[in-house]
Amino acid sequence: MENERVRILEEVAREVASCRKCRLWSSRMKPVPGQGDVYADVMLVGEAPGYNEDVEGRPFVGAAGKFLDKLLEMAGFRRDEVFITNILKCRPPGNRDPLPDEVDACTPYLDKQVAVIKPKLIVCLGRYSTNYILLKGGVKTYRGRISTVRGQVFKINFEDLSLLVVPTYHPAAGLYNPKLKNMLINDFILIGKVVRGIRERGVDV
Ligand code: URA
Ligand code: SF4
Repeated sequence: MENERVRILEEVAREVASCRKCRLWSSRMKPVPGQGDVYADVMLVGEAPGYNEDVEGRPFVGAAGKFLDKLLEMAGFRRDEVFITNILKCRPPGNRDPLPDEVDACTPYLDKQVAVIKPKLIVCLGRYSTNYILLKGGVKTYRGRISTVRGQVFKINFEDLSLLVVPTYHPAAGLYNPKLKNMLINDFILIGKVVRGIRERGVDV
């Protein structure tokens, strides 16, 4: 039921808006719970809101977001057919890296979003997202080095859900590094192919 999905996701957004489970509530402007189609078969998970996201309350609206829009287009997706969110829902001051206790405090919100949306594929943008999702999915070969897993398709269990995961670099990393930019483009072209395969063949992942 669509209304049920909308209701639960709005509930998560309200919980995030009043959340004080870690220190970040006190320095952020707007919470950034995530945005997109509640029926999306693809979810993208970034790191944390930056300055522009903190001002607008929406994920990936700054320079990295513009590049992400291009990557989505190259994969053959419209932005409004996917769901985009982050590991942390509040901006860390000065865009510093997420701290382990912040990740622990915040990821139950991501877990709820995944459980409701039930994506067929999750794209991990950057190492915080990759760490959380591959470790949760029990990928034993992953030792914390994103370069060893990016652009690969993993089949994992995310709690009760069976789904595919493709880790890639964070779009911000591709902005000023042509090598990483090319790898991001290749990874998104692969992601587009994998998702078209799932949609056309109706493959059960
Ligand atoms: N970087 C992220 O990881 N997430 C955003 O929403 C914006 C920039
Ligand atoms: Fe709560 Fe997450 Fe914001 Fe921390 S970052 S205050 S856990 S919503």
